[in-house]
Amino acid sequence: MANKAAYGALFALLFLSAIFVTVICIIGSPRDGLAHHESFPFWQRTIVYQVYPRSLGDSDGDGAGDLRGISSKADYLHGLGVGTVWLSPVYPSPMADFGYDIADFVGIDPLFGTMADFEELRAALHDRGLKLMMDFVPNHSSDEHQWFAKSKRREEPYTDYYVWADPKGFNETGQPIPPNNWLSVFRGSAWTWVEERQQFYYHQFLAKQPDLNYRNERVREEMKNVLRFWLDKGVDGFRVDAITHLFEVQDLSQDEPVASHSGTDDPLDYGYLNHTLTLNQPETFTVVKEWRDVLDQYPDKAMIIEVFGEEIEEVMKYYGNDSVPLADFPFNFLLIEHLRNRSDLTGFALKDTIDLWMDNMPEGKWPNWVLGNHDYGRVASRFGTDAVDALNMLVLLLPGTPVTYNGEEIGMVNTFISWEDTQDPQGCRYGPEHYQEFSRDPERTPMQWDNTSFAGFTKGNSTWLPVNENYKEVNVKAQLQAEESHLKIYKELAALRKEEPFVRGHVAYPVVTFEIFSVMRYLEGYESYLLVINTSEGEVEVDLHHHSNVELPPSAVVILRSVTDTSNSTVPGSVVKLSELILVPGEGLLLNLIEEE
Ligand code: GLC
Ligand code: MG
Repeated sequence: MANKAAYGALFALLFLSAIFVTVICIIGSPRDGLAHHESFPFWQRTIVYQVYPRSLGDSDGDGAGDLRGISSKADYLHGLGVGTVWLSPVYPSPMADFGYDIADFVGIDPLFGTMADFEELRAALHDRGLKLMMDFVPNHSSDEHQWFAKSKRREEPYTDYYVWADPKGFNETGQPIPPNNWLSVFRGSAWTWVEERQQFYYHQFLAKQPDLNYRNERVREEMKNVLRFWLDKGVDGFRVDAITHLFEVQDLSQDEPVASHSGTDDPLDYGYLNHTLTLNQPETFTVVKEWRDVLDQYPDKAMIIEVFGEEIEEVMKYYGNDSVPLADFPFNFLLIEHLRNRSDLTGFALKDTIDLWMDNMPEGKWPNWVLGNHDYGRVASRFGTDAVDALNMLVLLLPGTPVTYNGEEIGMVNTFISWEDTQDPQGCRYGPEHYQEFSRDPERTPMQWDNTSFAGFTKGNSTWLPVNENYKEVNVKAQLQAEESHLKIYKELAALRKEEPFVRGHVAYPVVTFEIFSVMRYLEGYESYLLVINTSEGEVEVDLHHHSNVELPPSAVVILRSVTDTSNSTVPGSVVKLSELILVPGEGLLLNLIEEE
């Protein structure tokens, strides 16, 4: 009898939940675009959030971030609404270039934890519906990689795994002369002599980062196996590092020409030469296509490529085309390269920069927007803290995938690092006088979680780079509690961009002046959004109707505004007149247009 009653109850429960699910489906599905919407690959649907592993969270108190520290922030990342995490290198490394010098492409550095910790992180993210992308650093390994040790000894099959060359000759003191004048990105000759082998090896970056030889078929196979290893571990794709350096010309006897407009008179500075022989060689695309083919053996994987400092035509080549698809997108660094500081930030400059990408992007490809990363100063320091919200609004609401570097969501600023505390090799190599112009430490300091010691980043008693002094005001906890904050705006934007007008709506730029930039997202059958940005350092009152190239309604409802705007008339929900809009310096104001009856 008891059993029967239990079955009856169970049956009733199943029946009720079936009804419930059906109702939910009906409520949830009337949007016409949903089917289409679901078919977007994941990397078109999410924000890509870059985690610099040394600086997100430290679980073991040694002062450096680690994998468990990141796992412990999985709820935060989920709550932020970013969707995809790109993890900068966590592989075994002597840390000469903080993980970009890899001694084992298929392991985890003990500083960051174990492979089990990695798997836990992957599961923690996947359980919450987040994707995980790894950093793939194909151009070079560490000089402490076993391949390099064997290559130095001419041990087969490793002899030609790297780029080796005989000296051009010997100077009066008997010192070997490098085969050519090629320079390292980090300054000085790109060639280092090895006594043991009586040859030079080539390194585009540090001497501790010997370049792999992609003219060797075995090297190519090894690196494809690296991709397969991580794909088999369940990762969702890769960010590919420093791709433009992959190949050099085969004839190593040629010098590179001195650049005509280099802006430097230091012959050891990378900018001194025009890199015609060491950048963007045509063979690179063949190898990228091989990687694409590896990824395409697995469902729904993404490849993003780092191409910095190139002409737009060069950058666009990395998208490939319909018959030869390459990266899903090369990073769009134009907002970094073209807008170096606040004085570059004008309505016209923003429009030109956006157009430059959109007009050159091959047909059918997907845009993306990068404001900063571990190599370039903090957004707040480059453009001013008052512009933080507006810039996040811009990149999160434009069509395409935004890429956010950890800490930008709370408006972290560059941290002053003394010469004694300087860690970054790029800074160290320029000495105490000039390190600040080159060091990337200021944007790599620990994430600021709360106002406890070391900003809640570690329970230990030191950190690998100092925590920014402003952590008591600028931290996650404070911004979650505040009425209005950068973080709250960021979260609202992350949610808002899932709305149809942003997912697949049209884009227009109704008003662009020196001081004002605006972007409209609209779609038949939905409300239209208008983002208005005051790029100037002064308050601006603008008549949008006067300047607009499309018809705008008389008024709009405020959806979001920068934290710096404290006016009573722009409290979210307020109705504002588009003919007399007032914006504080650097403000972003997101509006819902009120269509006239
Ligand atoms: C990329 C990385 C940078 C690193 C370099 C060498 O540019 O972003 O941090 O130093 O590659 O691997
Ligand atoms: Mg640690």
